[in-house]
Amino acid sequence: MKRAVILLCMLLIVFATLSIAQEKKAEMKADPGNELKQSIERGKGLFIDASLGTTGMSCNSCHIEGGMKAGEMGDMKIPPFTLVAKKYPGYFKMAEKVMTLDQVINWCILTPMEGTPLAWDDQRMADLASYVASVNAMKSGKAESKEKLKK
Ligand code: HEC
Repeated sequence: MKRAVILLCMLLIVFATLSIAQEKKAEMKADPGNELKQSIERGKGLFIDASLGTTGMSCNSCHIEGGMKAGEMGDMKIPPFTLVAKKYPGYFKMAEKVMTLDQVINWCILTPMEGTPLAWDDQRMADLASYVASVNAMKSGKAESKEKLKK
């Protein structure tokens, strides 16, 4: 009888360990679409975070409504975001050279926001890039046309 109880306990332990291992495995299997969604969400939060710079401004101070609306810096108009991931690498006129999207973001952090540029492997850089790349003001029909902005 005693033996049977010990055996049963051992079986239970083995079963419990196996089911925990199974659960861990399921947790570790990342869902790429969901990972990107979460990155975009974190980027959205960082977009309104003034602590990326030292001037009290966040990205949203110039790229109004999350980059959906035209903003301005001095008397310069800043167009809303439209497919920025397609634009860069490309010529970034503020820096007068070709830059990647990450470099453009770091230019904004360093220059107008007077902050510390993010390292290439900083998750916040990936999150900001995921977010800005997800914005397409033209598609939503909210953006004013580029021609209109130039006036
Ligand atoms: C003080 C104003 C200001 C702030 C704050 C600012 N930017 Fe910018 N940003 C600009 C200007 C000016 C441009 C150039 C616009 C142009 O070339 O038409 C620009 C361009 C960009 C572009 C390229 C847009 C395009 O269509 O070519 C991206 C992406 C961008 N900024 C992201 C960010 C992010 C992310 C932040 C926050 C970390 C940020 N910016 C903060 C002023 C700002």
